[in-house]
Amino acid sequence: MHCPMPKKRQGSFTPVWPNPSRMWRSMPDGVLAEKASRKFIYIEKLKLKLLGGFIMLNFDFYNPTRILFGTDRLGQIDKHIPAEAAVLITYGGGSAKKSGLIDKIKNILTGRKLHEFGGIEPNPRYETLLKGAEVVRNEKIDFLLAVGGGSVIDGTKFITLAAFYDGDARDLLKFGFSPVPFDMVRKVIPLGAVLTLPATGSEMNCGATISYEQGKYPVLSELNFPAFSVLDPTITFTLPRIQVANGVIDTFGHVLEQYLTYPVDARVQDRMAEGILQTLIEIGETAVAEPENYDARANLVWSATLANNGLIGSGVPQDWATHIIGWELTATFGIDHGQTLAILLPSLLEMRREQKRAKLLQYAERVWHIESIDEEKKINLAIQRTRNFFESLGVKTHLSQYGIAADKIPVIVDHLKAHGGTALSETQDLTLDISQKILESSL
Ligand code: NZQ
Ligand code: ZN
Repeated sequence: MHCPMPKKRQGSFTPVWPNPSRMWRSMPDGVLAEKASRKFIYIEKLKLKLLGGFIMLNFDFYNPTRILFGTDRLGQIDKHIPAEAAVLITYGGGSAKKSGLIDKIKNILTGRKLHEFGGIEPNPRYETLLKGAEVVRNEKIDFLLAVGGGSVIDGTKFITLAAFYDGDARDLLKFGFSPVPFDMVRKVIPLGAVLTLPATGSEMNCGATISYEQGKYPVLSELNFPAFSVLDPTITFTLPRIQVANGVIDTFGHVLEQYLTYPVDARVQDRMAEGILQTLIEIGETAVAEPENYDARANLVWSATLANNGLIGSGVPQDWATHIIGWELTATFGIDHGQTLAILLPSLLEMRREQKRAKLLQYAERVWHIESIDEEKKINLAIQRTRNFFESLGVKTHLSQYGIAADKIPVIVDHLKAHGGTALSETQDLTLDISQKILESSL
């Protein structure tokens, strides 16, 4: 995940996220993101005129996370956590306890002072994480080990940022897709992760999504990269089917947010993105239906990590509108993150077919191998196959199937407005009216 230049939000506490497409673009060094973005768009438009097409964007790529992939890798954490460390093991609602994973970890880490902090809920809540930060301070913790899915890893990232922050920790929620400034955080405790759910990519990126009141807030910081992450596909064998399906869709969604925009002749990134999408299509149903199919789970785990570790997003425009609208569905109605993407993605692609036309055609041809019909039909079929794929995993793709009727749409749009989601997408012209239409056509 690319962390562009920090930019402080001014004024009283109203956490809002700025436009990610603006913030996630690759920025020239030393220039504030928003100003750079205006200049960037101007230059890009100029290039389009002069060259007849966009070219690959400048980018910084930085990712320090060590990946320990495969079976029997858990023991390796002993090497990567200092022998004298006071370690806080963080986990969620109990699945990692029940499976015996936490006990295994404690046996590996003998000799260290071990503490536990459980109860990090799905869509981790700010208030819970502050309690974790208190344990870090009180117990003089010097290493955090997150054992869980995206929620536990994200939550642990926030704990480390909040633990030694001097002011009101809600400040850390105010930066949206800009990173929290380094000088704001006095000290962070290093963290590692043992991944139990392949989906978010949090195990190898610098982002977290934190729930506060009726909103979900991205928090980015290079200080948040895990030092290492254990990716053992057998640890995912205990997942409920719906969580595996959510993970396949979240991964698919991460790729589409970075791939299905407009072409910039980024051939490597495009082919990596298409490779991940085709892998998910090949293994998705098996990964859901056969909990102990190692090959399917191994490919899912690595796809999920690669889809959101900054690599395929380097040098290309990025959308993220589906995620941002989806966060409102989770915050207001508690719908799982992956399910929100299954609901919104097909409608968003339909609504944005002109803006995304060239890439939609590429997606239809290269990912779904749709060749011999006219362009409109190609796009229609690609969107239909996307929806069918989500449904083949057992995930419903209409709001009404989650009990949400038309009368709730104004509420969602109001929340989106309150959180600053008024000019979304890679072209920043996805207005609240368009979001409303996307929601209406998702019914
Ligand atoms: O809490 P426990 O008891 O562990 O149960 C969890 C939870 O109920 C269960 N689970 C996880 N691993 C298991 C397991 N059950 C049995 N066996 C296992 N091996 O699964 C449930 C869901 O877990 P959660 O961590 O909430 O799911 P996920 O990994 O999908 O994470 C979702 C969160 O990540 C954020 C989402 O917004 C949401 O808050 N995201 C984080 C991103 C990032 N950091 O880059 C990007 C994403 O787009 C997303 O926004
Ligand atoms: Zn996601």
